[in-house]
Amino acid sequence: TELSNIRNFSIVAHIDHGKSTLADRLIQETNTVATRDMKEQMLDSMDIERERGITIKANTVRIDYRADDGQDYVLNLIDTPGHVDFAYEVSRSMRAVEGSLLVVDSTQGVEAQTLANVYQAIDADHEIVPVLNKIDLPASDLDRVAEQIEDVIGIDASGAIPVSAKTGQGIHETLEAIVQHLPAPKGDPDAPLKAMLVDSWYDAYLGVIVLVRIIDGHLKKGDRIKFMSNNTTHHVDRIGVFKPAMAEIDRLGPGEIGFLTASIKQVRDTRVGDTITHEKHGTTDALPGFKPSQPVVFCGLFPVDSAQFEDLRDAIEKLALNDASFSYEMETSAALGFGFRCGFLGLLHLEVIRDRIEREYDIELITTAPSVIYHVYMRDGSMVELHNPADMPDLTHVDHLEEPRIKATILVPDEYLGDVLKLCQDRRGIQEDLTYAGSRAMVVYDLPLNEVVFDFYDRLKSVTKGYASFDYQMTGYREDFLVKMQILVNDEPVDALSIMVHRDRAEQRGRAMCEKLKDLIPRHMFKIPIQAAIGGRIIARETLAALRKDVTAKCYGGDATRKRKLLDKQKAGKKKMRQFGKVDIPQEAFISALKMD
Ligand code: GTP
Repeated sequence: TELSNIRNFSIVAHIDHGKSTLADRLIQETNTVATRDMKEQMLDSMDIERERGITIKANTVRIDYRADDGQDYVLNLIDTPGHVDFAYEVSRSMRAVEGSLLVVDSTQGVEAQTLANVYQAIDADHEIVPVLNKIDLPASDLDRVAEQIEDVIGIDASGAIPVSAKTGQGIHETLEAIVQHLPAPKGDPDAPLKAMLVDSWYDAYLGVIVLVRIIDGHLKKGDRIKFMSNNTTHHVDRIGVFKPAMAEIDRLGPGEIGFLTASIKQVRDTRVGDTITHEKHGTTDALPGFKPSQPVVFCGLFPVDSAQFEDLRDAIEKLALNDASFSYEMETSAALGFGFRCGFLGLLHLEVIRDRIEREYDIELITTAPSVIYHVYMRDGSMVELHNPADMPDLTHVDHLEEPRIKATILVPDEYLGDVLKLCQDRRGIQEDLTYAGSRAMVVYDLPLNEVVFDFYDRLKSVTKGYASFDYQMTGYREDFLVKMQILVNDEPVDALSIMVHRDRAEQRGRAMCEKLKDLIPRHMFKIPIQAAIGGRIIARETLAALRKDVTAKCYGGDATRKRKLLDKQKAGKKKMRQFGKVDIPQEAFISALKMD
């Protein structure tokens, strides 16, 4: 295809504003797939994505379109992940295309996530076409939302296209706008091959599939290629495009987007943002700014039933093959036995992996407190990265600690602003900016990541009745007075409940955790002290009284079936318990105890 007849674009949108529905419509309108083959939401391929309504893996589709000017165009749509945890992947895929559709739900308006993604599109020098979706709904307010796009994002919205991805209204206009307003790609067909690795994933039949954008030169079947980040070489055995089903073709030229397979075994061997060239006579000039994405949140995953440890290992290894940003290593805990310490890009990533292990592999898990990476500076001048509070070095050797900070952007309707400010303040936030756009406030906070990883999203959603949107970026490390707090149950430390906490908050957190545990741990035949401690010093204490009566006593000994039911219930409850010394602690206690109210 001629460069001038190619348009490459992505869709930027907040969750639920209609990205997938619009993509499906564009595909349908151009008859890229026969209507009868059209599954709802073609682009969200994994079950979990469909169920949770989030797009995790970037996907792509090539659309053939004859425009009103009578010419045939190739439109390549790259679907980018919509969540902050995947910001790095978004920024890479943005660089593979020249333009974006900015989809905003015209009944809702601009959200924090839209902002973050649209800024990435602007950074990548995109031409941006605003699309105001859901105009079929009575609450649609085109003028207000167009004005908001201009005020908050600062781009011209006069040419915004009113669309209903549901009824199909405005879809033709959207296709025409893509052809007319988005620039054609540039590239040199005669230069050595230079291609960007946009995404990769594992396929059970074909091995690793690599999505590429050709910048210069040509890529053909049978070529020997090289990944420039690690100098590994491969033999290309397949080249093709997504329509959206895979279709093999002979070669890809400048400006084109397609896939290759090359008998690559692990997704780990392919790095998003890497430069691909030919092994011989390749380019020497790699694409700038490549950096592999690093996990920022860590937690322990342990099987509830220790007999399932090998199953868990199997599940984790399989998931890791297909997810280069998920890391793991074996961990042993005095209390929880054998498990894995895992690293994630963020909390959603953690949740997705945990859900998949529980559902697809049928393994019940205990998840320990999520932790960030602390920098521990030792007296001897060295620095240790601390991923797990349990590994905190002896304090006598420690000089000081640094923790990661983030810049958080929150968009919220006026009436909830006070609650949001209070929440951020409670989490040791420092306000950096506060502006208004219509009846909504945009507030920017500098926050410690460790205060966000527990339940910040949940709290934010609950204090704003779901109306706030939130996005963050890591900004760097800063020193603060952090200590390791341990929880002792019946005088035994429960390592899975150890957390790093700011000194000034330790007592409050310790007290809250002890009170919660007192409610969560069932009574035993003996009295159980529950304590929070820093070093050897107890900072909070509760006592769980001993059990006096048998639970079945209140059945007056008469009703045998009822008695049996109670006992069965107790037994089922037991299964989900973990024994610590002489004490049984239910699984839910590990998560609930860490939440802050
Ligand atoms: P993620 O995949 O989670 O990022 O969401 P999305 O932005 O892809 O949104 P999706 O396409 O899944 O749409 C969200 C919801 O809005 C779905 O229930 C759609 O049916 C609905 N929806 C999308 N477009 C329209 C529209 O034009 N009108 C109406 N009434 N509903 C729409």
